[in-house]
Amino acid sequence: MAEESGESLDLGDLSEMADGEMKCFEDVGDYGIVVCRSAGQLYALEDNCSHADTPLSEGRFRGAKITCPLHGAQFDVRDGTHSGPPAWEGVACYKVVESDDGAVVYLSSNNDDDKGDGFGEVGGMFRTR
Ligand code: FES
Repeated sequence: MAEESGESLDLGDLSEMADGEMKCFEDVGDYGIVVCRSAGQLYALEDNCSHADTPLSEGRFRGAKITCPLHGAQFDVRDGTHSGPPAWEGVACYKVVESDDGAVVYLSSNNDDDKGDGFGEVGGMFRTR
């Protein structure tokens, strides 16, 4: 595994989270993060819709998409990208590494190793058109 850099935070044992479950960590960053499990993997997004500041953790999570409860914008939990209006940009996406010791989120990782293009320099923020 590549060496991780930047601020990290232990999330504890999340092995009981099943596919399709999400969990909010309110004390992380300005808005908290929402951790989701999709196809066995954990992903973390800033818990704040880019459209009008609504917690995504209060929305619906299906497959790899989380739907904002207020106006229905959808975001891909794997990279933070949005699917279209009313959001005009994605949300910050953070790398989560899970091991026998628990899950750790890297708040300043840009996820380049796993995600390829599309991640900015700060917190994995993905901006689209
Ligand atoms: S606040 Fe999320 S779509 Fe409007």
